[in-house]
Amino acid sequence: MSVFSLRDINKSFAGNAILKGVSLEAEAGEFIALVGPSGCGKSTLLRIVAGLDHADSGEIRIGDREMSKLTAADRNIAMVFQSYALYPHLTAGQNIAVPLAMRKLTGMQRLPLIGTLLPGQRQICADIQRQVHAMAVSLKIDHLLDRKPGQMSGGQRQRVALARAMVRNPSVFLMDEPLSNLDANLRVHARGEIVDLHRRAGVPTLYVTHDQSEALSMADRVAVMISGNLLQLAPPQVIYDDPSHIEVARFIGQPRINLLLGKKDLHGIVQFGALRLASSSSDAQGDGSVTLGVRPEFVRLRVEGQGALAARVERLEFLGSEVIVFAKLAAIGETMLAKVAPGDARGLVAGQPIGLDMDPAHVMLFAEDGGRLPAAPVSAVLRETAHG
Ligand SMILES: Nc1ncnc2c1ncn2[C@@H]1O[C@H](COP(=O)(O)OP(=O)(O)O)[C@@H](O)[C@H]1O
Ligand SMILES: [Mg+2]
Repeated sequence: MSVFSLRDINKSFAGNAILKGVSLEAEAGEFIALVGPSGCGKSTLLRIVAGLDHADSGEIRIGDREMSKLTAADRNIAMVFQSYALYPHLTAGQNIAVPLAMRKLTGMQRLPLIGTLLPGQRQICADIQRQVHAMAVSLKIDHLLDRKPGQMSGGQRQRVALARAMVRNPSVFLMDEPLSNLDANLRVHARGEIVDLHRRAGVPTLYVTHDQSEALSMADRVAVMISGNLLQLAPPQVIYDDPSHIEVARFIGQPRINLLLGKKDLHGIVQFGALRLASSSSDAQGDGSVTLGVRPEFVRLRVEGQGALAARVERLEFLGSEVIVFAKLAAIGETMLAKVAPGDARGLVAGQPIGLDMDPAHVMLFAEDGGRLPAAPVSAVLRETAHG
């Protein structure tokens, strides 16, 4: 059973549709990364789930409870923002205690002097201190509890913000680009920490990021949102290997996927240079445009004349364990990227003519509307025509 679900969430600002019928369901303890380019509506969706904003229509459920009508405070949802939003005049310990104090103490009990005189206040405060300390130990920030935000590094502030969000056992955890203020090394380290924390807490998490490598490396499932449409929700490997839409293929993967415009003939055959591919027979009627997609690791370098496509080396990008070869196709002037082992790129120089081959088993086809076309036994067709 899903523990958390969104159904058909719509939202417009001043007549502009920002969220266009977004639906998703999270299983117990699942970590979902919501990824998409800046401005696609990720923060808007998160704010709606948290109750900081309202959808025009749609449903938000936690367990079997509909949340849309509840205030932010009543949803028991925790949210961590990019800016952490810690209170600068409070210590780390006091910051972490805020949500507990808000929930457990009355307004009178929270007053600095009078509060201490009221019955029950001491006991509750001692409980809060214990919880804050336990949370701090689990995030390894107990030595920071007396420091104010100004006396902590970005990574430390980020952990305090996480502790503050986690301390009240939320039923759903929302994070909006919580790592984007950290420098690159710390960011990679913090990914692991958040995933660990999530595993220990077991709270379903919706994690927003514009960084596709963050989404792929952290999440159980990745939700790809483009222009307010949630295009695909699937495990990272499926999102990468088997994108359902051309925009997903384009957004996911570093270096980018190669996309080449081709034409389908009356028999459903897509011809690209010497490469001939069959789109599925059910799609064989039209002669429309199709886009051929192939990831750089499935493009091979050949001696000129042997490859399916004639090209010229433009430049090389050395990445250590691999090299990205940028090669311009002679026929259409498009630049293809090939990701190869350094040994395979040795001796290549800019301007050199080469041939490019694609692994036919890894070529994808996309229809004009961006939808994925099932590819027929591509390799069989390729092999037949390669000789003929
Ligand atoms: N309160 C608002 N009023 C008007 N437009 C808004 C408001 N909040 C967000 N938008 C617009 O909605 C779009 C999506 O914004 P946002 O959800 O912040 O994107 P993301 O978090 O994916 O970068 C943007 O074009 C933004 O300008
Ligand atoms: Mg945002």
